[in-house]
Amino acid sequence: MDEQLLSAISKRHSTRTFLPDALPEDVVSQVSAFAQGLELPFESNTEFQFFKSAPGKGLYNNGIAPANGIALIGETDLVSISKTGFAGELVILYAASIGLSTCWFGHYKLAELGKYIDGIAEKERIKETSLGLGYGYGDQVDVGKRVICCIPFGHGDENAKRLIDRVMKKLGANRKPLGELLDENTTLSALPPDIAEVLDLARPAPSAGNSQIWRFGYNKTTNVLTIAKPIGYKHFKWEHSDVDVGICAAHVWLGLVDKGYKPKVTVEQREDRAVWVFELNQASE
Ligand SMILES: Cc1cc2nc3c(=O)[nH]c(=O)nc-3n(C[C@H](O)[C@H](O)[C@H](O)COP(=O)(O)O)c2cc1C
Repeated sequence: MDEQLLSAISKRHSTRTFLPDALPEDVVSQVSAFAQGLELPFESNTEFQFFKSAPGKGLYNNGIAPANGIALIGETDLVSISKTGFAGELVILYAASIGLSTCWFGHYKLAELGKYIDGIAEKERIKETSLGLGYGYGDQVDVGKRVICCIPFGHGDENAKRLIDRVMKKLGANRKPLGELLDENTTLSALPPDIAEVLDLARPAPSAGNSQIWRFGYNKTTNVLTIAKPIGYKHFKWEHSDVDVGICAAHVWLGLVDKGYKPKVTVEQREDRAVWVFELNQASE
């Protein structure tokens, strides 16, 4: 399975214009079974709610949805949202591996989503987001469980790609070189070659606005790899970059497992960010 997910990294890209038809039930069940059976290397409270929506423009501000979607629901502390990114990306890669198109959407319309899933779109929560959008644009931190992101999945409409798809595809192909993704204490020359290869696999990970805000740290003495956003970082439009860091961590984890590592994985909040710690000398439980 890990190999299947790893080889899907090069197949995945964001699709924003989908064919409207619902997927056959057995295909949806296949994705759902993968999501529900996910074995993560840490404790997690992420839930996956599979839903069907009216296809079209109702749910996403800049996307044409298919009939099938997944709502990623989790606690809103930084560690939990980052873990949600990790779990969601494994599902996205699985969907890509069986030929489906997907896109992460942080900006979905909460009121619209509330028509398809019970109990997630209380009035106070809708008010909390100007424009009624999802878990971005919030005026304040929402505590408790909520929908962190949505993932439409289906077949992309290749004939109807809009400007946003073309622009974003270009952006999507545009990834920072590894040297720009290292934290202030880490240099390229300090990275063992196999770790550099693993980090290379994390470069194509998706991020909101293609911000690629993850920074890798590596300590040779302790053989510990870390991933986090820089302290104080804020994206102008997406408030939850720790989700993106978790997405990147999923790629790193797949790469490490492929190289034969069984790292102990922990995620902790340090200052204003979630920090992923991969202890490469340790075996996971
Ligand atoms: C957490 C997250 C939230 C995102 N939210 C949106 C969104 O609301 N609308 C959108 O069009 N794209 C969204 N994207 C998709 C990114 O724009 C896309 O991943 C990035 O440009 C890289 O392109 P690629 O996925 O094709 O490699 C999101 C991506 C992530 C990881």
